[in-house]
Amino acid sequence: MPARRAGMSHIPVLLNEMLDALAVRDGAVYVDGTFGGGGYTRAILNKADCQVIAVDRDPAAIARACDLQKEYPDRLHVFHGVFSSLPTLMAQSQFDQIDGVVFDFGVSSYQIDTPDRGFSFRFDGPLDMRMSDDGESAADIVNTYDEEDLANIIYTYGEEHRSRRIARAIVELRKVKPIQTTLELANLIKSKLGGRPDAQHPATLTFQALRIKVNNELIEIERGLKFAEDFLRADGRLVAVTFHSLEDRIVKSFLREKAVRKHKQSRLLPGEKAPSPPSFFDLYPKGVAPSESEISVNPRSRSARLRAAVRLPSGQQGGTDA
Ligand SMILES: C[S@@+](CC[C@H](N)C(=O)[O-])C[C@H]1O[C@@H](n2cnc3c(N)ncnc32)[C@H](O)[C@@H]1O
Repeated sequence: MPARRAGMSHIPVLLNEMLDALAVRDGAVYVDGTFGGGGYTRAILNKADCQVIAVDRDPAAIARACDLQKEYPDRLHVFHGVFSSLPTLMAQSQFDQIDGVVFDFGVSSYQIDTPDRGFSFRFDGPLDMRMSDDGESAADIVNTYDEEDLANIIYTYGEEHRSRRIARAIVELRKVKPIQTTLELANLIKSKLGGRPDAQHPATLTFQALRIKVNNELIEIERGLKFAEDFLRADGRLVAVTFHSLEDRIVKSFLREKAVRKHKQSRLLPGEKAPSPPSFFDLYPKGVAPSESEISVNPRSRSARLRAAVRLPSGQQGGTDA
């Protein structure tokens, strides 16, 4: 297990807002698809006499979940795996429908603050970035993908407009020696792009891009949302907390497609396909951001957005002014 830093913890983000949006109640069954440090799961279990199915792909998070399970032996069910495999996990469980699902996407503080996991350029460590303990690491990608693929990854998942320069610099350096550590990569990018002391580190977007690619994060989000649509019972709640615009865009466009819209078009244009009936009611079309006081206590919450929706009965027609 990787070395930990003393006093490490994860402060749950938008915790009360998550509990309100999930409408936690006695007798219900919830899925926490991103257990992490267990802050959400613990709060849900404390709020009502309910059941929680906790999932995480990270073995270290699952070890924490197993510790918590000792406190709630009859109410907490722990599964190790990706949330895209939730349909399979559900088939193995005693539950076939759920009353709520929450996703708190991205990495936990445990992961980012552990140098050996290689997520952060604040510490030197192996260029790894895997949340699970299998698959390609960031070093595998950086040292083997061709220049164009690297540039595309950095551009698409980092929205980094200097992606071509960064990819070229990576390929030049690795001709001399493989890039193996977080600081080797961060220092290379800084030496090519420079950086102002008051601006974000020039490697920030490249690290984000590699992490998303290593963990297939955006496809995972799409599948997690589809799981919610397929397994929530009517009136069940979907709650999703995102940390950057790529994540938020996926949740927003999922809800735009699946949720009741106020100004639903009543007539189809020639050749236009009839939209499928809405499966959700969007509780907060603008999303919920953390308060100033939360940001002052936990600066990492700054970019968080919570979105939530209520599952409509299958086949329900929506729209208020059709
Ligand atoms: C931001 S943390 C969650 C923190 C948690 N809400 C808490 O209160 O402690 C995100 C967690 O989700 C896990 N994770 C990310 N993507 C995942 C996926 N596709 N499947 C399962 N777990 C995932 C990460 O390993 C990490 O532990």
